[in-house]
Amino acid sequence: MNPANRRTVIAGNWKMNFTPDEATAFINEIKPMVAGKDNCDIIFCAPYVTIDAAMKAAAGSNIKIGAENVHYEEKGAFTGEVSAKMLKAIGVEYVIIGHSERRQYFGETDTTVNLRTKAALANGMKVILCLGEVKEQRLAGITNEVVAMQTKLDLADVDAEALKNVIIAYEPVWAIGTGLTATPEQAEETCGEIRKVLADMYGADVAETVTIQYGGSMNDANAAELLAKPNVDGGLIGGASLVASKFTAIVDAAQ
Ligand code: 13P
Repeated sequence: MNPANRRTVIAGNWKMNFTPDEATAFINEIKPMVAGKDNCDIIFCAPYVTIDAAMKAAAGSNIKIGAENVHYEEKGAFTGEVSAKMLKAIGVEYVIIGHSERRQYFGETDTTVNLRTKAALANGMKVILCLGEVKEQRLAGITNEVVAMQTKLDLADVDAEALKNVIIAYEPVWAIGTGLTATPEQAEETCGEIRKVLADMYGADVAETVTIQYGGSMNDANAAELLAKPNVDGGLIGGASLVASKFTAIVDAAQ
């Protein structure tokens, strides 16, 4: 478990799941199950059209609702995109940026991830910045180089003050939605490597305060041993965040 100087964050990434009514039902189901479990922050990141319903259902509870992406411009001719100003206007505090599915299927690069990150931070939002290697990179033994490069590029021009609002989610792409999980040792090693890069960029004291989550087939069965590692400060959970009992078990593993 992480030291007291950084917050454990258990976040769900609903991806393209849940209509507003389904989100409302899910939040109403899980709210009493996680009530009073305050040793970690609990967040669900929802599709844009579902955010409002989820926020209303979560009001007054220890559950926060975030978005799954944000554009870097404030407004303009960017069909299909949503700005940080718009998200803020409806009270959204957290946003996932740089998820591997955005990078794989929608052409996001470290440059656009960096622009989106800076825009979200400039608007006072908290960013869950996703990065991680693909299978070929792990097999080639270059995982550390890949995550170091992503960390440096994605956080370019983000100063130490702004970094206080950044959570990093280490998500090995080969572990996402595949049922393959990084071993606790692999997760610890790579999260530790990311922290070393942060120490180079911002100094060790700052690096020690950054929450680094693991994501990739985290579930009720494997969460406890992953979260037991000192550099794993939480989880970003896909599939298991759609099932109240499974997600609650992960929250319990973090207590
Ligand atoms: P799974 O938990 O479904 O592997 O998804 C992980 C993820 O992509 C979270 O952002």
